[in-house]
Amino acid sequence: MKTNLSVLSFAFLSVVFSGCNSSPSGVEWKSFSGDKHIEQRVDSVLKQMTLEEKIGQMSQFSANQSITGPVMSDDFQPYLEKGFVGSIFNATSVEGIRRMQKIAVEETRMGIPILFGHDVIHGYKTIFPIPLAEACSWDLDMMQQTARIAAVEASSDGLNWTFAPMVDISRDARWGRVMEGAGEDPYLGSLIAKARVQGFQGGSNWQSLYETNTLLACGKHFAAYGAAESGRDYNTAELSEHTLRNVYLTTYEAALKAGVATFMASFNEVNGIPATGNKRLMTDILRNEWGFKGFVVSDYTGINELVPHGVAKDEKQAAELAVNAGIDMDMTGATFIKYLSQAVEEGYVSEKTIDNAVRRILEMKFLLGLFDDPYRYLNEKRAYQNTLTPEFMAVARKAVAASAVLLKNNNNLLPIRKDKAVTVALIGPLMNDSVNLNGEWAALGDRGKSISVLKGFTEKYRDSPVRLIYAEGSGITQTTPAKIAEAVSAARRADVVIAAVGEDYNWSGEAAVRTDIRLPEAQRELLKALKATEKPVVLVTLSGRPLDLSWEDENLDAIVQAWFPGTQGGHGIADVISGDYNPSGRLVMSFPRNVGQVPIYYNRKNTGRPVNPQDERVDYKSNYLDASVTPLYPFGYGLSYTTFAVSNVKIDKKELKVEGGKITVTADVQNTGTVDGEMVVQLYTRQLWASVTRPVKELKGFRKIALKAGETKQIAFELTAEEMAFYGVDGKKKAESGDCKLWVAQHAEDESNELSFEIME
Ligand code: BGC
Repeated sequence: MKTNLSVLSFAFLSVVFSGCNSSPSGVEWKSFSGDKHIEQRVDSVLKQMTLEEKIGQMSQFSANQSITGPVMSDDFQPYLEKGFVGSIFNATSVEGIRRMQKIAVEETRMGIPILFGHDVIHGYKTIFPIPLAEACSWDLDMMQQTARIAAVEASSDGLNWTFAPMVDISRDARWGRVMEGAGEDPYLGSLIAKARVQGFQGGSNWQSLYETNTLLACGKHFAAYGAAESGRDYNTAELSEHTLRNVYLTTYEAALKAGVATFMASFNEVNGIPATGNKRLMTDILRNEWGFKGFVVSDYTGINELVPHGVAKDEKQAAELAVNAGIDMDMTGATFIKYLSQAVEEGYVSEKTIDNAVRRILEMKFLLGLFDDPYRYLNEKRAYQNTLTPEFMAVARKAVAASAVLLKNNNNLLPIRKDKAVTVALIGPLMNDSVNLNGEWAALGDRGKSISVLKGFTEKYRDSPVRLIYAEGSGITQTTPAKIAEAVSAARRADVVIAAVGEDYNWSGEAAVRTDIRLPEAQRELLKALKATEKPVVLVTLSGRPLDLSWEDENLDAIVQAWFPGTQGGHGIADVISGDYNPSGRLVMSFPRNVGQVPIYYNRKNTGRPVNPQDERVDYKSNYLDASVTPLYPFGYGLSYTTFAVSNVKIDKKELKVEGGKITVTADVQNTGTVDGEMVVQLYTRQLWASVTRPVKELKGFRKIALKAGETKQIAFELTAEEMAFYGVDGKKKAESGDCKLWVAQHAEDESNELSFEIME
């Protein structure tokens, strides 16, 4: 799709607001920062602006240095020169950004500086594991830290806005964008949303936006983008108010409470109305109910897409619908710049709506300090000094190890310690690969320079008696009998086989949906041949989504889910395999037994005919004829090189008052093995009856704790009525009375430590 921007006309119109046909959003702009001084400065700028200049502020163009959607025209120079550009994204160098900023500031009538945005999702140049992987670390401080580093690197390159974090709840492994989020759980997802927002923005205080090493964050994609039917990207989300409120909206609200400066509208429709033109979402909920004071950007050509969605007859009407719904900035679609002044003249959009949007955008520019010094982010020396530093590399390496999840480890096959005199056959398409390791949305990460798994192992075992032999065995999708034979021969000469398998990096991310989530056939063929050698096989899986690993689970000896690990991938994976790092990751998305189970998530409902997991074949129950209803690996699951036990679970009282009630849950957690390790202790609850059905399990707390071999620690959780609150039959969020259970568990299916309590008036 190409838009011919040159035919636009920019006649300066005298604006008379007369009788509106479509309803303007009507929400008064209120200062995000609450700073009167900034409010006055914003007003003084606004007062001097023409309507076209205002609409220009609401328009974002792509410099097209990284392409993330249909290529629109990058011929925005004429707008830039007139001062009709509010933001540019995908510009990625200090020099280029300076050139554009200079035109905006020094060569236009108003001289308003530009916001420069980019998809800084999991690192900028130092690439960290994909967000889904990082979430499996359950380490909020670490996630805040990696977002912080990403902000330092990106802001050093002149950027001041990231389109992250993606906080969409993801329950469907077919959907490629699960790689960008924090998985299926609203509670954990909300905490991760907060950690990431604060990492990018430099804290919870908006004053930190003034620092030159912070970025505006952007909560996306509002709303319910992850609920796309059948996992197909951009597809319809059909959600009850109950599920929207209790599940899908939770993480956006958490991002907002953490101070997120901007939101991005999602592409999808929600209950019949595309989010981009959805006033209820963008204004009634986001602004009026939640009190959001920042600004909202459309997603890419989301406004233009209101036409094919079928809620606008043409792009002009789409622009009117979007701005009246509450969209403040048009990303690349050029609908605002083409049609809004006419819409104002005709009375379809009020100038007040325009003013409110522009105020919100200008306020961010003030908060960033761009009006004080538009070049303050632009410093070549800083760009050079602040990227790929040894300190960032160390954090990235640790993040790789902390994100890996040990799914299976028969007979303690792992770790392969450095002092073992063994021969290891290193096999598989992703063993000697750098290109795929960064995964999708890897900003300016240099794909060729990521540490391959082979390199990681080679360095790890360099001065050790461990002997390594390598054979590729298969490409990602193709192999040959000769390649397989070579791999089999290597396996035969070895004591143990490690196979690095998985997906191509662009099989996940945007518009990357799979209906078969097994390993590709060529790789399965390779694994079967390796299995036939009867050598123990360790699988290292690199993927952007949970895969169906049923065959691998049944037939192989150990599995490490390493996701797409980023710049330091090979080193971090070698740390895990060698036991230098004891795996501590826990799944944040359920792994299905087959794609037919998808969407599958632990916090499902019971139904009126629940299945007894001990006897799933009983007729007329909510089961399958040909598979279990349980996942292959549940949410919260992950092994360690040691073992843990939870005991002595107690609550200080059995009643939780609906108003302000609180109970304390304590438990002893012991490392029952022989090596030190970290455990993620998880608190789950279930309310057995209420005015609406409640999930069979809900995460309400967790602690990631380090325990020396043999050590026991007592941990405590506070469970409040507020945490037990949900949107009930009256549409209000509150705790309701009812009988409840709780578990202090090692994963979502662990019911070994169960207690009861009651919520009461
Ligand atoms: C994606 C967004 C992204 C934007 C800009 C869109 O296609 O959905 O997540 O931020 O492009 O690159």
